[in-house]
Amino acid sequence: MKKVLVTGGAGYVGSHTVKELVKNGYDVLVVDNLETGHRKLVDHRAKLEVADLADKEKLKSIFEKYIPEAVIDFAAYLAVGESMEEPEKYFQNNVANFINLLDAMNEVGCKLLIKSSSAAVYGNPTKESDIPWQEDFTECYRPEKSALLSGNWQGKKIAGEEFFQCFLDHYNSIYADRPELKLSSDEIIKLRIPMSIYGVTKLLDEIVMKKYDEFCGLKSIVLRYFNVCGADPSGGIGEAKPKPTTLMTLAIWQILGRVPELSIFGDDYSTSDGSGVRDYIHPSDLATGHIKALKFLVKNNKSDIFNLGTGTSSSVFEVISAVEKASGGKVKYTIKPRRSGDPAISISDPRKAEKVLNWKAKYNLRDMAETAWKWEINNSKIKIQKSK
Ligand code: UD1
Repeated sequence: MKKVLVTGGAGYVGSHTVKELVKNGYDVLVVDNLETGHRKLVDHRAKLEVADLADKEKLKSIFEKYIPEAVIDFAAYLAVGESMEEPEKYFQNNVANFINLLDAMNEVGCKLLIKSSSAAVYGNPTKESDIPWQEDFTECYRPEKSALLSGNWQGKKIAGEEFFQCFLDHYNSIYADRPELKLSSDEIIKLRIPMSIYGVTKLLDEIVMKKYDEFCGLKSIVLRYFNVCGADPSGGIGEAKPKPTTLMTLAIWQILGRVPELSIFGDDYSTSDGSGVRDYIHPSDLATGHIKALKFLVKNNKSDIFNLGTGTSSSVFEVISAVEKASGGKVKYTIKPRRSGDPAISISDPRKAEKVLNWKAKYNLRDMAETAWKWEINNSKIKIQKSK
Protein backbone atom coordinates (compact mmCIF):
# COMPACT_ATOMS: atom_id res chain seq x y z
CA MET A 1 0.00 0.00 0.00
CA LYS A 2 1.39 3.41 -0.96
CA LYS A 3 2.13 5.73 1.95
CA VAL A 4 1.11 9.36 1.62
CA LEU A 5 1.71 12.07 4.20
CA VAL A 6 -0.97 14.78 4.11
CA THR A 7 -0.26 18.07 5.86
CA GLY A 8 -3.37 20.05 6.79
CA GLY A 9 -5.42 16.90 6.29
CA ALA A 10 -7.80 17.89 9.11
CA GLY A 11 -8.93 20.97 7.20
CA TYR A 12 -11.65 21.57 4.63
CA VAL A 13 -10.16 20.41 1.30
CA GLY A 14 -7.59 18.25 3.10
CA SER A 15 -10.22 16.10 4.84
CA HIS A 16 -12.06 15.48 1.55
CA THR A 17 -8.81 14.42 -0.10
CA VAL A 18 -7.84 12.14 2.81
CA LYS A 19 -11.22 10.40 2.50
CA GLU A 20 -10.66 9.89 -1.24
CA LEU A 21 -7.11 8.62 -0.66
CA VAL A 22 -8.13 5.95 1.85
CA LYS A 23 -11.02 4.96 -0.42
CA ASN A 24 -8.42 4.40 -3.13
CA GLY A 25 -6.31 2.16 -0.88
CA TYR A 26 -3.59 4.59 0.20
CA ASP A 27 -2.02 4.42 3.65
CA VAL A 28 -2.44 7.98 4.94
CA LEU A 29 -0.72 9.88 7.72
CA VAL A 30 -2.21 13.31 8.41
CA VAL A 31 0.09 15.92 9.95
CA ASP A 32 -1.94 18.85 11.26
CA ASN A 33 -1.48 21.32 14.13
CA LEU A 34 -5.29 21.52 14.55
CA GLU A 35 -5.14 25.31 14.61
CA THR A 36 -7.93 25.50 12.06
CA GLY A 37 -8.35 21.77 11.39
CA HIS A 38 -10.48 19.35 13.38
CA ARG A 39 -9.67 15.83 14.53
CA LYS A 40 -13.21 14.70 13.72
CA LEU A 41 -12.82 15.62 10.06
CA VAL A 42 -10.00 13.09 9.63
CA ASP A 43 -11.21 9.79 8.19
CA HIS A 44 -10.94 7.05 10.84
CA ARG A 45 -8.87 4.89 8.47
CA ALA A 46 -6.09 7.53 8.39
CA LYS A 47 -3.55 8.17 11.16
CA LEU A 48 -3.16 11.64 12.67
CA GLU A 49 -0.01 13.19 14.07
CA VAL A 50 -0.57 16.57 15.74
CA ALA A 51 2.46 18.67 14.76
CA ASP A 52 3.33 22.10 13.46
CA LEU A 53 5.41 22.50 10.31
CA ALA A 54 7.35 25.22 12.16
CA ASP A 55 8.86 22.41 14.29
CA LYS A 56 11.41 21.13 11.80
CA GLU A 57 12.94 18.51 14.08
CA LYS A 58 9.58 16.94 14.92
CA LEU A 59 8.67 17.03 11.25
CA LYS A 60 11.87 15.26 10.30
CA SER A 61 11.34 12.56 12.93
CA ILE A 62 7.80 11.98 11.59
CA PHE A 63 9.22 11.55 8.09
CA GLU A 64 11.95 9.20 9.33
CA LYS A 65 9.42 7.03 11.14
CA TYR A 66 6.71 6.96 8.47
CA ILE A 67 8.81 7.10 5.27
CA PRO A 68 6.10 8.36 2.88
CA GLU A 69 6.39 7.95 -0.85
CA ALA A 70 4.73 11.28 -1.47
CA VAL A 71 3.38 14.35 0.33
CA ILE A 72 0.21 16.32 -0.30
CA ASP A 73 0.45 19.75 1.31
CA PHE A 74 -2.66 21.68 2.38
CA ALA A 75 -1.19 23.35 5.46
CA ALA A 76 -1.61 27.07 4.83
CA TYR A 77 -3.62 30.11 5.78
CA LEU A 78 -6.09 31.18 3.10
CA ALA A 79 -7.91 34.37 4.01
CA VAL A 80 -7.07 37.08 1.49
CA GLY A 81 -8.09 40.01 3.75
CA GLU A 82 -6.22 38.70 6.79
CA SER A 83 -3.05 38.24 4.73
CA MET A 84 -3.00 42.00 4.08
CA GLU A 85 -3.28 42.78 7.79
CA GLU A 86 -0.86 40.13 9.05
CA PRO A 87 1.60 39.54 6.20
CA GLU A 88 4.40 38.23 8.44
CA LYS A 89 2.12 35.58 9.89
CA TYR A 90 1.30 34.51 6.30
CA PHE A 91 4.99 34.53 5.42
CA GLN A 92 5.78 32.28 8.38
CA ASN A 93 3.05 29.73 7.78
CA ASN A 94 2.71 29.72 4.01
CA VAL A 95 6.37 30.21 3.04
CA ALA A 96 8.82 29.51 5.90
CA ASN A 97 6.95 26.46 7.22
CA PHE A 98 6.53 25.23 3.66
CA ILE A 99 10.30 25.48 3.14
CA ASN A 100 10.73 23.44 6.36
CA LEU A 101 8.53 20.80 4.79
CA LEU A 102 10.58 20.77 1.58
CA ASP A 103 13.80 20.51 3.60
CA ALA A 104 12.45 17.61 5.65
CA MET A 105 11.35 15.86 2.45
CA ASN A 106 14.71 16.41 0.82
CA GLU A 107 16.66 15.24 3.87
CA VAL A 108 14.78 11.92 4.06
CA GLY A 109 14.71 11.44 0.29
CA CYS A 110 10.96 11.85 -0.26
CA LYS A 111 10.87 13.58 -3.63
CA LEU A 112 7.22 13.74 -4.70
CA LEU A 113 4.87 16.55 -3.71
CA ILE A 114 1.34 17.72 -4.55
CA LYS A 115 0.79 21.30 -3.45
CA SER A 116 -2.41 23.30 -3.13
CA SER A 117 -2.23 26.69 -4.75
CA SER A 118 -4.88 29.18 -5.72
CA ALA A 119 -6.47 31.28 -8.42
CA ALA A 120 -5.25 34.17 -6.26
CA VAL A 121 -1.89 33.88 -8.07
CA TYR A 122 -3.50 35.34 -11.22
CA GLY A 123 -4.37 38.73 -9.72
CA ASN A 124 -6.69 40.98 -11.70
CA PRO A 125 -7.30 40.37 -15.41
CA THR A 126 -5.35 42.90 -17.50
CA LYS A 127 -7.56 42.46 -20.57
CA GLU A 128 -10.72 40.57 -21.52
CA SER A 129 -8.83 37.72 -23.18
CA ASP A 130 -7.06 36.84 -19.87
CA ILE A 131 -10.30 35.08 -18.84
CA PRO A 132 -10.57 32.12 -18.57
CA TRP A 133 -7.26 31.95 -16.77
CA GLN A 134 -4.70 29.65 -18.33
CA GLU A 135 -1.81 28.28 -16.34
CA ASP A 136 0.86 30.00 -18.42
CA PHE A 137 -0.44 33.51 -17.62
CA THR A 138 2.04 33.61 -14.74
CA GLU A 139 4.80 32.64 -17.18
CA CYS A 140 3.94 35.36 -19.68
CA TYR A 141 2.70 38.44 -17.87
CA ARG A 142 5.44 40.63 -16.40
CA PRO A 143 3.99 43.72 -14.67
CA GLU A 144 6.15 46.75 -14.03
CA LYS A 145 4.79 47.35 -10.55
CA SER A 146 3.35 45.16 -7.84
CA ALA A 147 -0.46 44.88 -7.83
CA LEU A 148 -0.51 44.54 -4.03
CA LEU A 149 -3.41 46.38 -2.47
CA SER A 150 -3.16 48.38 0.69
CA GLY A 151 -2.07 46.49 3.79
CA ASN A 152 -0.20 46.66 7.04
CA TRP A 153 3.55 46.13 7.42
CA GLN A 154 4.85 46.42 10.97
CA GLY A 155 2.17 48.92 11.92
CA LYS A 156 2.50 51.02 8.75
CA LYS A 157 -0.20 51.24 6.03
CA ILE A 158 1.43 50.65 2.65
CA ALA A 159 0.54 49.34 -0.80
CA GLY A 160 1.92 48.36 -4.19
CA GLU A 161 5.67 48.39 -4.79
CA GLU A 162 6.51 49.59 -1.27
CA PHE A 163 4.56 46.76 0.35
CA PHE A 164 6.07 44.30 -2.10
CA GLN A 165 9.64 45.43 -1.34
CA CYS A 166 9.08 44.98 2.42
CA PHE A 167 7.86 41.45 1.82
CA LEU A 168 10.75 40.71 -0.52
CA ASP A 169 13.35 42.12 1.90
CA HIS A 170 11.89 39.89 4.61
CA TYR A 171 12.31 36.80 2.41
CA ASN A 172 15.84 37.85 1.39
CA SER A 173 16.95 38.43 4.97
CA ILE A 174 15.59 35.13 6.23
CA TYR A 175 17.14 33.11 3.40
CA ALA A 176 20.34 35.16 3.01
CA ASP A 177 22.43 32.06 3.77
CA ARG A 178 20.57 29.87 1.26
CA PRO A 179 21.92 30.82 -2.20
CA GLU A 180 19.82 28.07 -3.79
CA LEU A 181 16.69 29.99 -2.65
CA LYS A 182 17.76 33.37 -4.08
CA LEU A 183 15.11 34.83 -6.36
CA SER A 184 16.08 35.78 -9.91
CA SER A 185 14.99 39.13 -11.35
CA ASP A 186 12.41 37.37 -13.54
CA GLU A 187 10.96 35.57 -10.51
CA ILE A 188 10.73 38.87 -8.64
CA ILE A 189 8.84 40.49 -11.52
CA LYS A 190 6.48 37.53 -11.68
CA LEU A 191 5.72 37.91 -7.96
CA ARG A 192 4.28 41.34 -8.73
CA ILE A 193 1.20 39.75 -10.35
CA PRO A 194 -0.98 38.88 -7.28
CA MET A 195 -3.05 41.54 -5.53
CA SER A 196 -2.81 40.00 -2.06
CA ILE A 197 -0.05 38.75 0.20
CA TYR A 198 -1.93 35.44 0.24
CA GLY A 199 -1.55 35.25 -3.56
CA VAL A 200 2.13 36.26 -3.35
CA THR A 201 2.86 33.51 -0.78
CA LYS A 202 1.25 30.90 -3.04
CA LEU A 203 3.16 32.08 -6.12
CA LEU A 204 6.38 32.24 -4.10
CA ASP A 205 5.81 28.63 -2.99
CA GLU A 206 5.44 27.64 -6.64
CA ILE A 207 8.75 29.38 -7.47
CA VAL A 208 10.49 27.75 -4.51
CA MET A 209 9.23 24.33 -5.62
CA LYS A 210 10.81 24.88 -9.01
CA LYS A 211 14.10 25.61 -7.26
CA TYR A 212 13.92 22.37 -5.24
CA ASP A 213 13.27 20.50 -8.47
CA GLU A 214 16.40 22.06 -9.97
CA PHE A 215 18.77 21.65 -7.04
CA CYS A 216 17.65 18.35 -5.52
CA GLY A 217 15.23 16.72 -7.97
CA LEU A 218 12.12 17.15 -5.82
CA LYS A 219 9.23 16.84 -8.30
CA SER A 220 5.95 18.55 -7.65
CA ILE A 221 2.49 19.22 -9.03
CA VAL A 222 0.88 22.57 -8.26
CA LEU A 223 -2.92 22.62 -8.18
CA ARG A 224 -4.48 26.06 -8.45
CA TYR A 225 -7.98 25.88 -6.97
CA PHE A 226 -10.77 28.23 -7.90
CA ASN A 227 -13.64 29.01 -5.43
CA VAL A 228 -14.22 25.99 -3.24
CA CYS A 229 -17.68 25.35 -1.83
CA GLY A 230 -19.91 22.41 -1.00
CA ALA A 231 -19.31 19.40 1.21
CA ASP A 232 -18.94 15.64 1.01
CA PRO A 233 -22.33 14.22 -0.09
CA SER A 234 -22.43 12.01 3.05
CA GLY A 235 -22.85 15.16 5.16
CA GLY A 236 -20.06 13.93 7.45
CA ILE A 237 -17.31 16.38 6.49
CA GLY A 238 -17.32 19.97 5.25
CA GLU A 239 -16.07 23.46 5.93
CA ALA A 240 -15.93 24.03 9.69
CA LYS A 241 -14.64 27.55 10.20
CA PRO A 242 -15.84 29.45 13.27
CA LYS A 243 -15.98 32.67 11.21
CA PRO A 244 -16.56 31.89 7.53
CA THR A 245 -15.94 34.60 4.93
CA THR A 246 -16.93 32.83 1.73
CA LEU A 247 -20.14 33.56 -0.11
CA MET A 248 -22.00 30.26 -0.11
CA THR A 249 -21.32 29.49 3.55
CA LEU A 250 -22.38 32.99 4.59
CA ALA A 251 -25.58 32.72 2.52
CA ILE A 252 -26.39 29.45 4.34
CA TRP A 253 -25.49 30.96 7.70
CA GLN A 254 -27.83 33.85 6.98
CA ILE A 255 -30.73 31.47 6.38
CA LEU A 256 -29.82 29.66 9.60
CA GLY A 257 -29.88 33.00 11.44
CA ARG A 258 -26.18 32.87 12.36
CA VAL A 259 -25.53 36.21 10.62
CA PRO A 260 -28.16 38.98 10.50
CA GLU A 261 -27.79 39.63 6.77
CA LEU A 262 -25.56 38.93 3.81
CA SER A 263 -23.68 41.80 2.19
CA ILE A 264 -23.42 41.67 -1.58
CA PHE A 265 -20.16 43.37 -2.47
CA GLY A 266 -21.11 45.34 -5.57
CA ASP A 267 -23.90 45.03 -8.13
CA ASP A 268 -22.36 47.43 -10.63
CA TYR A 269 -19.75 45.22 -12.28
CA SER A 270 -19.95 44.78 -16.03
CA THR A 271 -21.20 41.21 -15.62
CA SER A 272 -24.57 39.71 -16.63
CA ASP A 273 -26.36 40.80 -13.43
CA GLY A 274 -23.81 43.29 -12.09
CA SER A 275 -22.46 41.03 -9.32
CA GLY A 276 -19.06 39.31 -9.12
CA VAL A 277 -18.56 36.16 -11.17
CA ARG A 278 -16.55 33.14 -10.00
CA ASP A 279 -15.78 29.54 -10.92
CA TYR A 280 -17.10 27.49 -7.96
CA ILE A 281 -15.69 24.01 -7.44
CA HIS A 282 -16.68 21.18 -5.09
CA PRO A 283 -14.07 19.84 -2.60
CA SER A 284 -14.82 16.24 -3.63
CA ASP A 285 -13.85 17.18 -7.19
CA LEU A 286 -10.65 18.72 -5.82
CA ALA A 287 -10.06 15.46 -3.94
CA THR A 288 -10.21 13.37 -7.14
CA GLY A 289 -8.00 15.98 -8.80
CA HIS A 290 -5.34 15.34 -6.15
CA ILE A 291 -5.46 11.57 -6.66
CA LYS A 292 -5.13 11.99 -10.44
CA ALA A 293 -2.25 14.41 -9.93
CA LEU A 294 -0.54 11.99 -7.54
CA LYS A 295 -0.85 9.12 -10.01
CA PHE A 296 0.51 11.34 -12.79
CA LEU A 297 3.46 12.41 -10.66
CA VAL A 298 4.35 8.87 -9.59
CA LYS A 299 4.15 7.65 -13.19
CA ASN A 300 5.93 10.53 -14.93
CA ASN A 301 8.21 11.96 -12.22
CA LYS A 302 7.70 15.39 -13.79
CA SER A 303 6.74 18.74 -12.24
CA ASP A 304 3.77 20.67 -13.61
CA ILE A 305 1.00 23.18 -12.80
CA PHE A 306 -2.76 22.73 -13.26
CA ASN A 307 -5.91 24.76 -12.69
CA LEU A 308 -8.65 22.92 -10.83
CA GLY A 309 -11.94 24.57 -11.70
CA THR A 310 -15.12 23.76 -13.58
CA GLY A 311 -14.64 26.34 -16.33
CA THR A 312 -18.19 27.59 -15.71
CA SER A 313 -19.17 30.87 -14.15
CA SER A 314 -21.71 31.83 -11.50
CA SER A 315 -22.64 35.26 -10.22
CA VAL A 316 -23.25 36.16 -6.57
CA PHE A 317 -27.00 36.23 -7.24
CA GLU A 318 -26.85 32.78 -8.83
CA VAL A 319 -25.10 31.40 -5.73
CA ILE A 320 -27.78 32.94 -3.51
CA SER A 321 -30.51 31.47 -5.66
CA ALA A 322 -28.86 27.98 -5.54
CA VAL A 323 -28.70 28.21 -1.73
CA GLU A 324 -32.36 29.28 -1.53
CA LYS A 325 -33.42 26.32 -3.71
CA ALA A 326 -31.35 23.83 -1.70
CA SER A 327 -32.62 25.09 1.66
CA GLY A 328 -36.13 26.24 0.86
CA GLY A 329 -35.26 29.49 2.69
CA LYS A 330 -34.75 33.10 1.66
CA VAL A 331 -31.44 34.94 1.99
CA LYS A 332 -31.73 38.40 3.48
CA TYR A 333 -29.15 40.65 1.82
CA THR A 334 -28.18 44.25 1.22
CA ILE A 335 -26.10 45.65 -1.59
CA LYS A 336 -22.83 47.12 -0.38
CA PRO A 337 -19.94 48.79 -2.22
CA ARG A 338 -17.40 46.60 -4.00
CA ARG A 339 -14.97 44.79 -1.68
CA SER A 340 -11.38 45.91 -2.08
CA GLY A 341 -9.33 43.39 -4.02
CA ASP A 342 -12.21 41.55 -5.66
CA PRO A 343 -11.81 41.01 -9.39
CA ALA A 344 -15.09 41.26 -11.33
CA ILE A 345 -14.55 37.86 -12.87
CA SER A 346 -12.42 34.82 -12.18
CA ILE A 347 -12.95 31.69 -14.26
CA SER A 348 -10.57 28.82 -14.90
CA ASP A 349 -9.61 27.17 -18.12
CA PRO A 350 -9.55 23.57 -16.84
CA ARG A 351 -8.60 21.96 -20.16
CA LYS A 352 -5.00 21.22 -19.23
CA ALA A 353 -6.05 19.10 -16.22
CA GLU A 354 -8.68 17.43 -18.40
CA LYS A 355 -6.19 16.57 -21.11
CA VAL A 356 -3.11 15.68 -19.10
CA LEU A 357 -4.57 14.33 -15.84
CA ASN A 358 -7.82 13.00 -17.31
CA TRP A 359 -9.67 14.92 -14.60
CA LYS A 360 -12.96 16.77 -14.92
CA ALA A 361 -15.19 18.27 -12.24
CA LYS A 362 -18.54 16.52 -11.95
CA TYR A 363 -20.41 18.60 -9.35
CA ASN A 364 -22.36 21.72 -10.35
CA LEU A 365 -23.48 24.74 -8.33
CA ARG A 366 -26.74 23.05 -7.34
CA ASP A 367 -24.82 20.05 -5.95
CA MET A 368 -22.51 22.40 -4.06
CA ALA A 369 -25.44 24.24 -2.45
CA GLU A 370 -27.29 21.01 -1.57
CA THR A 371 -24.26 19.29 -0.03
CA ALA A 372 -23.14 22.45 1.82
CA TRP A 373 -26.66 22.86 3.23
CA LYS A 374 -26.75 19.20 4.34
CA TRP A 375 -23.37 19.59 6.03
CA GLU A 376 -24.32 22.77 7.87
CA ILE A 377 -27.50 21.15 9.19
CA ASN A 378 -25.55 18.05 10.30
CA ASN A 379 -22.68 20.11 11.63
CA SER A 380 -24.93 22.10 13.91
CA LYS A 381 -25.96 18.77 15.46
CA ILE A 382 -22.42 17.34 15.57
CA LYS A 383 -20.82 20.48 17.11
CA ILE A 384 -17.21 19.95 16.12
CA GLN A 385 -15.05 20.03 19.25
CA LYS A 386 -11.69 21.77 19.30
CA SER A 387 -9.44 18.86 20.16
CA LYS A 388 -6.18 20.69 20.72
C1 UD1 B 1 -11.81 32.52 -2.50
C2 UD1 B 1 -10.80 32.02 -1.47
C3 UD1 B 1 -9.40 32.40 -1.87
C4 UD1 B 1 -9.12 31.89 -3.28
C5 UD1 B 1 -10.20 32.33 -4.26
C6 UD1 B 1 -10.01 31.63 -5.59
C7 UD1 B 1 -11.30 31.79 0.94
C8 UD1 B 1 -11.46 32.51 2.24
N1 UD1 B 1 -11.08 32.58 -0.15
O1 UD1 B 1 -11.79 33.96 -2.53
O2 UD1 B 1 -8.47 31.84 -0.96
O3 UD1 B 1 -7.89 32.37 -3.72
O4 UD1 B 1 -11.49 31.98 -3.77
O5 UD1 B 1 -10.77 32.23 -6.60
O6 UD1 B 1 -11.38 30.58 0.87
N2 UD1 B 1 -19.14 37.99 -1.78
C9 UD1 B 1 -20.19 38.78 -1.39
N3 UD1 B 1 -20.49 38.80 -0.06
C10 UD1 B 1 -19.81 38.10 0.89
C11 UD1 B 1 -18.73 37.28 0.47
C12 UD1 B 1 -18.42 37.26 -0.87
O7 UD1 B 1 -20.82 39.45 -2.21
O8 UD1 B 1 -20.15 38.20 2.07
C13 UD1 B 1 -18.77 37.92 -3.22
C14 UD1 B 1 -17.38 38.44 -3.53
O9 UD1 B 1 -17.39 39.82 -3.77
C15 UD1 B 1 -17.04 37.60 -4.78
C16 UD1 B 1 -17.76 36.27 -4.52
O10 UD1 B 1 -18.79 36.57 -3.58
O11 UD1 B 1 -17.59 38.19 -5.93
C17 UD1 B 1 -16.86 35.19 -3.95
O12 UD1 B 1 -16.20 35.69 -2.79
P1 UD1 B 1 -15.56 34.72 -1.69
O13 UD1 B 1 -16.46 33.58 -1.43
O14 UD1 B 1 -15.17 35.57 -0.53
O15 UD1 B 1 -14.28 34.13 -2.42
P2 UD1 B 1 -13.01 34.86 -3.06
O16 UD1 B 1 -12.80 36.20 -2.50
O17 UD1 B 1 -13.15 34.76 -4.55
